[in-house]
Amino acid sequence: MTGTPAEIKACCAASYGSDAVALLLGESYHPGGLSLTRRLAERLRLRSGHRVVDVAAGPGATARLLAADYDVTVDGVDLGEEGIARARAATEQAGLAAQVRFHLGDAERIPLPDGGFDAVVCECAFCTFPDKAMAAAEFARVLRPGGRVGITDVTIAGHGLPQELTTLTAWVACIADARPLDEYVALLEAAGLRAVHTEHHDEALIRMIDEIEARLRLLRMTAPRRLADAGVDVDAVLRHTTLAREAVTDGVLGYALLIAEKQLVSAYTS
Ligand SMILES: C[S@@+](CC[C@H](N)C(=O)[O-])C[C@H]1O[C@@H](n2cnc3c(N)ncnc32)[C@H](O)[C@@H]1O
Repeated sequence: MTGTPAEIKACCAASYGSDAVALLLGESYHPGGLSLTRRLAERLRLRSGHRVVDVAAGPGATARLLAADYDVTVDGVDLGEEGIARARAATEQAGLAAQVRFHLGDAERIPLPDGGFDAVVCECAFCTFPDKAMAAAEFARVLRPGGRVGITDVTIAGHGLPQELTTLTAWVACIADARPLDEYVALLEAAGLRAVHTEHHDEALIRMIDEIEARLRLLRMTAPRRLADAGVDVDAVLRHTTLAREAVTDGVLGYALLIAEKQLVSAYTS
């Protein structure tokens, strides 16, 4: 049992704005880090002056990188108030506030106008949206015809997950409601977004698990008080990372990049 859609969203938003997640995940909150973000940007064919939406922008590291390295403007959207406040502060500090803005909002009801954007980015978050078809329709709505959406996300294959990886915590950790890559493609295509490219990056998931464990072990030795204050249950996290690593090694969990393009005549109807 994982909870209602509203509970899942509230839990995601609260978790990702917390000190615990910042401690464990570091700068960006997805496997592959900013190097996979750069790869995504290349596949999206971002150009100077493009307008980009970062859906579920988290701490805003992606939005800042895209603005600084690709000279685009970025509208980041996230459900978490704490996360948005952190993202705005870091963006101000980086001197990028004129190019990057953040909006409190739901991926299933993006608070931005129709057809105003060249690209949508959504990293390690689509899998957590309870209504994925609605989120895909929203990506299509905000894109101009010919605009592209780039997703990187957790994928699932085979006979499913161990019970312990189907809880609300696992949902928030982008695992419990992950889908096969084909299903992500079908969800986007049903919204009028034709898949033009896919790549597998399963090794990025293993690296992220390794990094979380390394951070956790270091903090347990050097700053146990910080972990306790942030409410991190070290043994529980290590249990989950062990199971998640096994699931990747067994070919059950993976990570993938997917690019889709809005058709000139969109299937989206409002
Ligand atoms: C794993 S983090 C990824 C953050 C960012 N994309 C990155 O890669 O660094 C997932 C993010 O999705 C946000 N989120 C979850 N559900 C959402 C929803 N329905 N609408 C908007 N944001 C959501 C969470 O608040 C969190 O910041």
